[in-house]
Amino acid sequence: DIKGFVFDLDGVITDTSILHGTAWHQLADSLGVTWTKELGDGLKGISRMDSLEMILKAGHKENDYTQAQKEELAAQKNTNYVAEVDKMTPANILPGMKAFLDDLRAKGYQLSLASASKNAPRVLGKLGLTDYFPKIVDPASLKHGKPDPEIYTKGAELLNLDPAQCIGLEDAAAGVQAINGAGETSLGIGDATELGAADMVFADTSAVTLANIAKHLD
Ligand code: BG6
Ligand code: MG
Repeated sequence: DIKGFVFDLDGVITDTSILHGTAWHQLADSLGVTWTKELGDGLKGISRMDSLEMILKAGHKENDYTQAQKEELAAQKNTNYVAEVDKMTPANILPGMKAFLDDLRAKGYQLSLASASKNAPRVLGKLGLTDYFPKIVDPASLKHGKPDPEIYTKGAELLNLDPAQCIGLEDAAAGVQAINGAGETSLGIGDATELGAADMVFADTSAVTLANIAKHLD
């Protein structure tokens, strides 16, 4: 039986995936790296430094910068991203997600957060959702980022649940792979082709309800 839900944040609870994408796109432009939709999609769920490496590799520039310079570039992107986050309000919660979280809480399900983002507590604060997620996997504690299962394994551990008792929610292919690797049920939100590995896919957040999820479980 399902007892817990392990949530991704960016692109699942709120549309920060767009803000991350815009900030990386700007950085890629400034470095002379051609931006493509594939590059953008591939960055979803990927940690800050891994994202920078993917962008540099796409432009065959991974050897053009020292580690210190790379950290400076990542910090620059983060400054731009955080400026956008600080404009957010509870109105930036994706459609249906607040009602879904309230329903889960009312029915006694346990919640944890498995976001790769070091800005997750800040984003939750802007959305007014801090109280919903006392249990957050610290991305700084991870040996490997998504698609490695580690973050979802830890998300279940925080709830003292077996992975098989948990549903993981993701908008990114790398995240779905991580959920599957952890042995949880994967719920993808977005394009069914991109998220084909998920146990169930919903086109958008407004379709994510316990009733719809139940139709996919037996
Ligand atoms: C993930 C996003 O949730 O967090 C990625 O999908 C982002 O786009 C990653 O790069 C790391 O975020 P941050 O805020 O620590 O740079
Ligand atoms: Mg995401």
